[in-house]
Amino acid sequence: MIGDREHWTNRLGFILAAAGSAVGLGNIWRFPFVAGMNGGAAFIIIYLITIILIGYPMMITEMALGKKTQKNPVGAFKAMAPNSPWWLVGALGVFTGFVILSYYSVVAGWSLAYIFRAIGGFTPDMDFASLFYTTIGVDIGDGPNVITPLFWHLVFMALTVGIIASGVVKGIQRWVKILMPVLLILLLILVVRAVTLPGAGAGLEFYLSPDFSEVTGRTFLDAIAQSFFTLSLGMGAILTYGSYLSKDTTISDNGGWVVGLDTGIAIIAGFAIFPAVFALGFEPGAGPGLTFITLPAVFAELPAGSFFGFLFFLLLSVAALTSAISLLEVVAAWLIDEKGWARSRAAIVMGIIIFLVGIPPSLGYNLLGGFSFLGMDVLDTYDWFANALFLPIGGLLTAIFVGYVWQAKKAQEFANDPPGAINIGDWYGLLIKYVVPLAIIVVLIFGLIDTFSG
Ligand code: PHE
Repeated sequence: MIGDREHWTNRLGFILAAAGSAVGLGNIWRFPFVAGMNGGAAFIIIYLITIILIGYPMMITEMALGKKTQKNPVGAFKAMAPNSPWWLVGALGVFTGFVILSYYSVVAGWSLAYIFRAIGGFTPDMDFASLFYTTIGVDIGDGPNVITPLFWHLVFMALTVGIIASGVVKGIQRWVKILMPVLLILLLILVVRAVTLPGAGAGLEFYLSPDFSEVTGRTFLDAIAQSFFTLSLGMGAILTYGSYLSKDTTISDNGGWVVGLDTGIAIIAGFAIFPAVFALGFEPGAGPGLTFITLPAVFAELPAGSFFGFLFFLLLSVAALTSAISLLEVVAAWLIDEKGWARSRAAIVMGIIIFLVGIPPSLGYNLLGGFSFLGMDVLDTYDWFANALFLPIGGLLTAIFVGYVWQAKKAQEFANDPPGAINIGDWYGLLIKYVVPLAIIVVLIFGLIDTFSG
């Protein structure tokens, strides 16, 4: 029934779309601060190992399931294992897409707001902590700011809905072909600026020479969780994009491109950030505030800093948008395939619902500021459920399903057909049947212990 389903019109379209999904807040916002808190280069080495042992095999697995079944996540599991409860794994994926997008859009909205903050000018005398707090809505003396975070969350969701409503080729493919090159160019401009700053050397040193004294068990958990989130794995986004692939594309190669691009861009983002942070004497381990508080302060000190700040937040917003569309596409594809909805209706109705679900995390710094779940605010709570629970569980069950139900050997042959530059060997079965499930179980258990023991 390949007949009516839309397909990417060429290989580049698919690779850019999948890389667009993968490259997002995870690379430019999350990766640098997680690396900064885990010893810089030491974290990167561990992260690269998890990408090879877990990220790449999972990427292949999800793409193969999608291409094989030509269906959304729920339909894919139903097609592979009819009359069994396995479709619930797909349903968990759709639900996860829903949850992630609701708060992802809130953070992406802050980034949109900062594009305009930068246009207004970043100057050295500004209080960047207060600027961030007013953007996310904290009451810093002039009352809670409910409108700003909600407004930008709404704008970001509207952009996402607009692209998804236009379809796979006319919406997603068309836009990623414009946005991904823009993203790469902006990123390279920022890297050149950062590494040529006087004093950039200390940042390069931190970023490139491993300090293993900062490495703990937690570093490994962070690395694995980061590889799932950054590669868009464990919730069916890559599966869904894979379902728009036609027969003549080779999964092994395409998966290699997507993993390579995502990892490359995360590492390059670090080159844009750490040299600048060090050159001006800021802290690399500043945590989530690195992007929204430290960086604007860094930009304020640079010649033409507001302009580079503007480029940076534009870059962050573009990267977030190409990821958000893949999250909404999972939910939309499910309604279109399984419930027979028209694409535009699916995009608009779900966009509105996801916007509503995103209101609590959006208001978590004022009206809902009293909320706490194990000490986390609303947004961190959503993020915790998605990253610590749903993505690993989804990934675990998908690996088990493909390893033992579909059979690793069959998935391996499917991913190598037609033969491409990368030939997936029998190591694939070893990884997908044993290494990946075991690693995820360890992450789940220790992640839970870690959270609940405070
Ligand atoms: N990979 C995206 C990022 O790094 C986030 C994402 C997760 C997108 C899961 C789709 C699915 O920002």
